[in-house]
Formats: sequence, structure tokens, C-alpha cells
Amino acid sequence: MISDYQHFCQQHVDGALEQLLRAPTFELQRLYDAMHYSVMNGGKRVRPLLVFASCQALGGEIQQAYGAACAVELIHAYSLVHDDLPAMDDDDLRRGQPTTHKAFDEAYAILAGDALQALAFHALCDENLSPVSSQQRLDMLKELSNAAGAKGMVGGQAIDLSAVGQIISQDTLELMHRHKTGALIQASVRLGALASNHATKQKLEALDHYAQSIGLAFQVQDDILDVISDTKTLGKQQGSDIEHGKPTYPALLGLEEAQRYAQTLKQQALEALSDFDHKAVHLRQLADYIVSRNN
Ligand code: IPE
Ligand code: IPE
Ligand code: MG
Ligand code: MG
Ligand code: MG
Repeated sequence: MISDYQHFCQQHVDGALEQLLRAPTFELQRLYDAMHYSVMNGGKRVRPLLVFASCQALGGEIQQAYGAACAVELIHAYSLVHDDLPAMDDDDLRRGQPTTHKAFDEAYAILAGDALQALAFHALCDENLSPVSSQQRLDMLKELSNAAGAKGMVGGQAIDLSAVGQIISQDTLELMHRHKTGALIQASVRLGALASNHATKQKLEALDHYAQSIGLAFQVQDDILDVISDTKTLGKQQGSDIEHGKPTYPALLGLEEAQRYAQTLKQQALEALSDFDHKAVHLRQLADYIVSRNN
């Protein structure tokens, strides 16, 4: 059951994240409170799950991938804090609670996001959290910095903002989704593979195909949920994309076509894993979960 696996992984990653989010001095308490609030507030932890599942698919133990799991969740949390700011999506609700700039203030939301990003790279460098060779840690840092920056998530957010209120082509929409959401999801899968110590070129290629499909599917489903779900289930404001004139898959293709597309992407992801054995069970379950989730 994916929910059992999710619970198991959440406990592991949340324990490690708690350690990273302790304020070192009294003067920094408010900053750390804002960081802690932004991370430890009930996210689904899909990216750490992908890290662990990918590591296990190649025969690794999840303890080898703690650094990678924390790092991708910290980048994700920072991206959400900044995504919700008035200058970006201007949202007040996240994970069922006031967004960080509402619970604290805008300056602290900006600073907490900045600090979470830096902490992500710190976690990945930590020898205890990433017990692999120095070369491997360097490879992992390159992966994450590419996925988080202008060639990845930040680039996608820039395309997203410049496309508000515009009619864009399906190719541009796909490019935007692959950057803003797909890049970090792909990095999660690749980091898990690298942390396993058993990543071959061939396996990484197959995992890339899997990750590209589920990465896009994840954002397609996010767009769909903005239309069909409700604010309580989502933990964020339903209809926010429509209200802000965001380019989304349902807006471009219609709801049913967007739902069909998510299923096609899931099938492509499963096919990419055809040469993997039973150890890829959680990756397979996650592909299904990503397009069937209701929040
Ligand atoms: C929401 O991500 C933002 C997107 C990239 C679509 P999640 O749906 O993974 O959010 P949490 O972490 O569970 O709150
Ligand atoms: C956010 O996409 C992607 C990020 C990089 C944070 P959205 O703006 O669709 O995410 P939600 O719907 O606010 O969670
Ligand atoms: Mg956004
Ligand atoms: Mg948003
Ligand atoms: Mg969204």
C-alpha cells in the first residue's frame, strides 16, 4: 500500500528535517520558526518518497539517501513559500494553514525561503546524511543546483509568471511544467539513484524517462485538482489558477483531455520501468498515486 510506504518514509525524512531546523541561537529563533513552519506542516513528501523509492529500486538502503531526501524537500518548501508571495501567486492558504507570509510577514517569508534553499545544499553535503564518496556528493550537488535554478524550477516559475493572462501553445505549457515541477521531480529520482551507489548509465536513462513522465503528470494533476477538488481537501485555495489567469492543462486542453493526458503519462512512466525488478515496486506505486491523488 502506498499509504504505508508514505507513512514510513515521512517518519524517516521528518526526523532528519527536524534536526536540520533547530535554531542555533535565541536571536535566530523567529527565522527558524518561519523555516520550521514552512517545512513541518504536513506536505505529502512526494519528492523524498521518490528519492527513497529510486534508491531502493537500485538495491540501496533509504538511510543512504537521507541527505538527498531532505535536500529535495527543502528546495520544494522554499519554492512554495516564494510561490505563494503576493508578487507571485498571492495565495493565503497552504497545506491547510496560512501561507508563511501570512503567518509571519513578507520579509520573513523571503528570508525563510532563502535559508531553506541554502540548507538544502548543506544537507546534501553532510557526510552523515549522504554517506557516499566525495565525487558522488559533487555529482549530486550538480544535479540539484541545475534542477533548482534557472535551468529548472526557477526558470519554470519565470515562464509561468510571464504567461499569466496569455494564450500559450501546448509546447510552451509543457516546457513551463517540465521546468517548474518536472526538474525537481527528475532530480529526486536521479539523486536517489546516485545515493544507492548502484546507478549505471542504462538505469539512469530509464529512470530519466520515468521521471520526465511523472514530473509532467504531477503538474498536470495539480492543474486538474485546482479545477475539480475543494479547498479543504487541497489545503490550498481551489480555483486559484482560474482566478489568476494561469496557463494550465485543463485551461488549454479541457478537463477530460487533461485527465486522459495524465493517464498516458503514467503509462509511459510504467513502461520506462519495464526492465526493473520487484525492487521498483514503490516507484510503480508512486506513478499511480501521482495521477490518482486528490490533494
Ligand atoms: C505543490 O506540490 C506544488 C507543485 C509543484 C505542483 P505538492 O503537491 O507536492 O505540495 P505538498 O508538498 O504536498 O504540499
Ligand atoms: C508551483 O506551481 C510550482 C513551484 C515550483 C512551487 P503552482 O503555483 O501550481 O503550485 P501550487 O498550486 O501553488 O501548489
Ligand atoms: Mg505558481
Ligand atoms: Mg501557486
Ligand atoms: Mg497549482
